[in-house]
Amino acid sequence: MAHLSIVTSILLCCCVTYLYAQQQCEQSVNVARFDCFSDDGPTQERCEARKCCWRPPVISMNLTKIDSADFRDINVPYCYYPKDFPTYKVTSDEQTDFGQRVRIVKSQTTYMPHDILDLTVDLIYETQQRFRIRIYDSAYQRYMVPLKVPVVEKKANMTDYAVTVQSNPFAIFVTRISTGVILFDSSVAPLIFADQFIKFSTRLSSPLLYGLGEHKQALLINITDEWKRLTFWTRDIGPQPNTNLYGSHPFHINLEQIPNKETNFHGQFFLNSNAMDVDLQPLPALTYTTIGGIIDLYIFTGPTVQDVIEQYWDVIGKPTMPPFWSLGFHLCRWGYNTIENLTAVIQRMHDADFPYDVQWTDIDVMSNKLDFTYDTKNFHGLPELVRTLQANGKHYVNIIDPAISSTQPAGTYPPYDDGLQQGVFITKYNSTEPIIGEVWPGATAFPDFTNPKGIDWWTRAVSAFHEIVPFDGMWIDMNEPSNFVDGSHDGCTMNSLDNPPFTPHVVGGNLTSKTLCPSAQQYLSQHYNLHNMYGYFEAQASNIALQRVRNKRPFVLTRSSFAGSGQFTAHWTGDNGASFEDLYSSIPTILSFNMFGITHVGADICGFAGDTTEELCTRWMQLGAFYPFMRNHNAIDDKAQDPASFSWEAQQIMKQALLMRYSLSPFWYTLHHKAAMRSQTVVQPLFFEYPNDANTYNIDQQFLIGTALLISPNLVSGSNTVHAYIPQDVWYEFPSGVQLKTVGQYIDLDTPIQKINVHVRGGFVIPMQIPGDNLVLGRGNPFILLVALSQGGNATGSLFWDDGDSLDSIETKTYNYFEFTVTGSNTLTINGVVMNYKDSAMALGMVKVLGLNKTVIGVNVNGKAYSNFLYNSLDDVLLVYGLDLNMLAQASQTIAWTTS
Ligand SMILES: *[C@@H]1O[C@H](CO)[C@@H](O)[C@H](O)[C@H]1NC(C)=O
Ligand SMILES: *[C@@H]1O[C@H](CO)[C@@H](O)[C@H](O)[C@H]1NC(C)=O
Ligand SMILES: *[C@@H]1O[C@H](CO)[C@@H](O)[C@H](O)[C@H]1NC(C)=O
Ligand SMILES: *[C@@H]1O[C@H](CO)[C@@H](O)[C@H](O)[C@H]1NC(C)=O
Ligand SMILES: *[C@@H]1O[C@H](CO)[C@@H](O)[C@H](O)[C@H]1NC(C)=O
Ligand SMILES: *[C@@H]1O[C@H](CO)[C@@H](O)[C@H](O)[C@H]1NC(C)=O
Ligand SMILES: *[C@@H]1O[C@H](CO)[C@@H](O)[C@H](O)[C@H]1NC(C)=O
Ligand SMILES: *[C@@H]1O[C@H](CO)[C@@H](O)[C@H](O)[C@H]1NC(C)=O
Repeated sequence: MAHLSIVTSILLCCCVTYLYAQQQCEQSVNVARFDCFSDDGPTQERCEARKCCWRPPVISMNLTKIDSADFRDINVPYCYYPKDFPTYKVTSDEQTDFGQRVRIVKSQTTYMPHDILDLTVDLIYETQQRFRIRIYDSAYQRYMVPLKVPVVEKKANMTDYAVTVQSNPFAIFVTRISTGVILFDSSVAPLIFADQFIKFSTRLSSPLLYGLGEHKQALLINITDEWKRLTFWTRDIGPQPNTNLYGSHPFHINLEQIPNKETNFHGQFFLNSNAMDVDLQPLPALTYTTIGGIIDLYIFTGPTVQDVIEQYWDVIGKPTMPPFWSLGFHLCRWGYNTIENLTAVIQRMHDADFPYDVQWTDIDVMSNKLDFTYDTKNFHGLPELVRTLQANGKHYVNIIDPAISSTQPAGTYPPYDDGLQQGVFITKYNSTEPIIGEVWPGATAFPDFTNPKGIDWWTRAVSAFHEIVPFDGMWIDMNEPSNFVDGSHDGCTMNSLDNPPFTPHVVGGNLTSKTLCPSAQQYLSQHYNLHNMYGYFEAQASNIALQRVRNKRPFVLTRSSFAGSGQFTAHWTGDNGASFEDLYSSIPTILSFNMFGITHVGADICGFAGDTTEELCTRWMQLGAFYPFMRNHNAIDDKAQDPASFSWEAQQIMKQALLMRYSLSPFWYTLHHKAAMRSQTVVQPLFFEYPNDANTYNIDQQFLIGTALLISPNLVSGSNTVHAYIPQDVWYEFPSGVQLKTVGQYIDLDTPIQKINVHVRGGFVIPMQIPGDNLVLGRGNPFILLVALSQGGNATGSLFWDDGDSLDSIETKTYNYFEFTVTGSNTLTINGVVMNYKDSAMALGMVKVLGLNKTVIGVNVNGKAYSNFLYNSLDDVLLVYGLDLNMLAQASQTIAWTTS
């Protein structure tokens, strides 16, 4: 009997447990499952050992939208968290000056080693639109990202958001007060916080998001019926989808759609520099899984997308103001191989009369691929060549990789000797010896730019080489950091930094792949924590070094980047290929990097790897003329692709594109000024300006420059038309000025090879200039104002102008700033708001007014009749020419026209 009752109670107990588990595992829809086994190799046994639920996806016969998505999707996790998975509960909650401090604890551990059972949560109400959540170990200080972010001690008085904390289980909810939309909701999955495994999730406001770079993907991440994983671990690899790439930007913008209401946007930034996965699922929800640091999360409530950007950049830093010359055309290739080849290319570019500003060289110029050297045999006379370029107003940029050869005879190679002596190299785990890997010159040590001594050492190396070759900018490549051997020449350790209990889904399978051992020691922390910021710190050091050496505005181009890198550097999209597919994908990448605060960005025009074709290169020069950063760059042994290497016809088309770019240089420069001063993106997707037009949400084959120019490139081989979306607005064709008749829909634009579609938006005044051979030589040329009237006959614009190269033109107010306005359809007013820079002439040569649909019978300049004008009634264009109006002559000047 006794035995029987034991058996019965065991059975009963199991049955209850089973039923209970059944209930805990119940999920109404597959998309609400949060993956408990995102590491490789889940099985039922391993899953249940984690106290998680194991179920095949529910295959529903009810084909509503979500269910049909479930049905199709293979990524639904079999192993997921039960509702009662052990997590934290609140033990105390106090009001503080900055907001709220909450203590959370748990008693049960999870499947990851070293759970941290006692955590502190700071809820910081930083501004009316910016909220910060920090969750960290209550007892021990953990690694925190060494980014200088604002420190807010006093809670904002009023906020656009409301925050609530759920006690058990612990969860945070953030809602937008004006609409009630949930911006953050961590209750969807358990928080796990172990030493090397931090995981939390949030419900998204909609399945439409942007950002989360650097990845090769469409601009719009649409998870309506898709599961998606994005991994962050900086990596040297030619851009390809579903792969961690050169940079790490765990920032996204989420669109909030409410029927019949204005569309709002909010942003979210996870300030964490460790290797991580971001998992997205159609609930819609987002899960961060990082392997170090703390939870430090910002929410930006916008509500416009530009507001979100501004609020984000207030945290990470605004983009640097580039020197004016760097907005011109840059030409580069890997494999000029000899100075004769290099000179020949420069000569043929000159003979063919291409405007261009900057000549570059790659690693083939170095002596034995050693940084801070040049090959005095094959590139004999390089310093003289550089000086000749500079004498003609051109500039020169060369490549410098971070890794420093460690095998040169002692006393022969100062960068290594000096670095070793100063102790600036990253060291092996638990050792003072530099960790040695392998890059272009063979065995190399890796400078630690988080060490202040590293910056001084770098400056000395830059300065010494600058004495020999007076370069104007630095191209910092291979700074993920790239390493041709995994880890180091001696492998890595067996410790948990090199072999963490969970590895995010990095290409190559482990963190040591093609880089340094994570256990390597840097000044500020382990490489494990700082890896994603290697390029950030190198860019900062290079920016500082260039300022010290040249005492002019620095130009740095980096491959690897982190949140905030835009303060120091421009960026290119890395080793792309010569294909139409890469031509397209340059656009979403460039638009995303503008959101990330690296506004001076471009892709290798005509394609880096592989032979280009004349058609592809022509289309790419046309598109590239509208990249913020315009560089044509080619790989070794590939067919030449400098513009002068093509047929006469192709050259004329490329030249036309270059002349368009050069004529718009004052507009570009002003946009960069606005990026640096007012947190505005230089180029942007259409939805930034048309947020309530759902047609724009996924457009990434067209884009806007500032808010006034619409670019609709031809991205298809053999095609003569572009199927382009023209938002509901007033648009004029550039440069003809003819108004588009059909707007607010997709239209087919005739786009033969000689044409790039550029449209000017009504309501804007665009400052332009007659192009010179390069931007320096063209600086004194006459300006042009292109006035595109709105429906109501208005237009506004502005122009920032200084010497283009000074470090302190803003601080010393040595610049000019003009505002242009057209009111009442008949008067253009030029307002000199600041007019302190008088070193170069600013003569207005021409005004072109588009959309003037009444016959113009007279023009007045500053009240005096002026006869040099033409009115084209067919196209509604007024041209006022031969002006020679000194824009600095007085603070307010007018050009008015009278109509019949
Ligand atoms: C299908 O799903 C919808 C939405 O969840 C529900 O309203 C409907 O009753 C379901 N139909 C059936 C046949 O289960
Ligand atoms: C917040 O409100 C207090 C009291 O009304 C006021 O003294 C203070 O200046 C306000 N602070 C901010 C940042 O607006
Ligand atoms: C997002 O994806 C869904 C499903 O594929 C699609 O119906 C919807 O149109 C997409 N949204 C946008 C804005 O592209
Ligand atoms: C460089 O010049 C050499 C001969 O001087 C020639 O063989 C080679 O093809 C040239 N390379 C390029 C990239 O122009
Ligand atoms: C660090 O190195 C010292 C001396 O080589 C050794 O005794 C010690 O065990 C090492 N510590 C660790 C944690 O590897
Ligand atoms: C990383 O993966 C490679 C290839 O599978 C392997 O050789 C290496 O030992 C791994 N390194 C570590 C630290 O796990
Ligand atoms: C042109 O004229 C019409 C009729 O007067 C007016 O409605 C329109 O706004 C004007 N301007 C443009 C740019 O179309
Ligand atoms: C044009 O400008 C005038 C004066 O600034 C203003 O009253 C009017 O609203 C503007 N119209 C449009 C369509 O912007």
